[in-house]
Amino acid sequence: MPKGMPEPSTVLFRGIRVVDPATGRDGPGDVLVEDGVVASVGEAGTASAPRRGEVIEGDGLVLAPGLVDLHAHLREPGREDKETVESGSRAAALGGYTAVAAMANTDPVADNAAVIQEVMALAEKAALCEVHPVGAITRGLEGETLAEIGEMASLGVRMFSDDGKGVQSARVLRLALEYAKAFDVVIAEHCEDESLTEGAQMHEGYHSATLGLRGWPSEAEELMLARDVFLARRTGGRLHVCHLSAAGSVDLVRRAKEEGLRVSAEVTPHHLTFTDDDLSSYDTYFKVNPPMRSADDREALRAGLADGTIDAVATDHAPHADEEKEQEFDLSPPGTIGLETALAAVLTELVEPGRLSLLRAVEAMSTAPAGVLGLRDHGGPVEAGRPANLVVFDPAAEWTAGPRFASKSKNSAFTGRALRGRVLHTLLAGELTVRDGAATR
Ligand code: DOR
Ligand code: ZN
Repeated sequence: MPKGMPEPSTVLFRGIRVVDPATGRDGPGDVLVEDGVVASVGEAGTASAPRRGEVIEGDGLVLAPGLVDLHAHLREPGREDKETVESGSRAAALGGYTAVAAMANTDPVADNAAVIQEVMALAEKAALCEVHPVGAITRGLEGETLAEIGEMASLGVRMFSDDGKGVQSARVLRLALEYAKAFDVVIAEHCEDESLTEGAQMHEGYHSATLGLRGWPSEAEELMLARDVFLARRTGGRLHVCHLSAAGSVDLVRRAKEEGLRVSAEVTPHHLTFTDDDLSSYDTYFKVNPPMRSADDREALRAGLADGTIDAVATDHAPHADEEKEQEFDLSPPGTIGLETALAAVLTELVEPGRLSLLRAVEAMSTAPAGVLGLRDHGGPVEAGRPANLVVFDPAAEWTAGPRFASKSKNSAFTGRALRGRVLHTLLAGELTVRDGAATR
């Protein structure tokens, strides 16, 4: 254990509902955490209290593998006023996360070994969850020359993305997928054909016409996704599709999977919750990229997540400064924060109304994203000897999101929304990073 690191706790969770997608288990049990690992998982009510440490009664609570986010903007280096590795990882831990992928659109861009090492060092020093830097696909996110993919891969970077922008050139994306295959890494694409989205503010449809805002048509996403599936097929490189927003995109991913291609996809809690109708207030907290779309699109995303076409829920946590978000709609940057509300949003919108089982929800927020990133210590199984990366939440607790968050920014589309489901404890390698809903450091 590195010097200055907090000690792992000894805790017995007694009579708790264990939800573990890796084994398919959903039922009561006793879970003992000791020396950073799950020491035992037994029948509910059979474990005796540990000699040292504490007992937490599981009454109505759920214990699951810690959540894993494939898509968070932690803004460091460059925009530490919006978020830092420390503040973002604290927000993540409060949201039940034990690992997050930190996007590359920082300043300077994470397109070389030095920036990757800087983020890794910040994480080592201050983070309340594991932070895995994502490397850029192209130098400076400019879409023209490949970044130092091999060098970054040798530091352990598993995912590469120009997120914030799509890779416009088929030639460049094809080359990136070839490299991805050679280095066994994943290309995560923000699908947006910029020839269709210049000046776009929201989903193109009835509401954009009545609100007088420039539209971002679904085809801009679908066309690039279709192209990328073609290139993944030819190159054999692994493709991950960021933040699906359109029904047609769900179909494209479904067909690619039926064909056996190495394609995975994510959806955000906000695209699963809101529609373009919510923009009628001109509230810039609803301005995101890609935009919230129609109710039919939202329905297709929910169905795609339920049937496994969409592998994972990822936050696209995108903090922005008040003075930026408070500008008029056209000038406001796109993005909503999401780490502290993601689990509750999924529980409220999908699990509670019976659209998604709790087991599938945890799979999509933990086991599946851990698989995409190749994080063997995360995502379960919750079994003896496994690292104790865990979340404990109360699925029935009711609360209202915001207006203040642990994140340095407060631009949450969920602000003021009634949510059900609250994270109580998060354990990172056996250390309680969150206890009773509060960060421990
Ligand atoms: O809404 C978004 N915000 N979408 C992106 O692709 C980028 C992100 C950001 O960096 O703010
Ligand atoms: Zn994006």
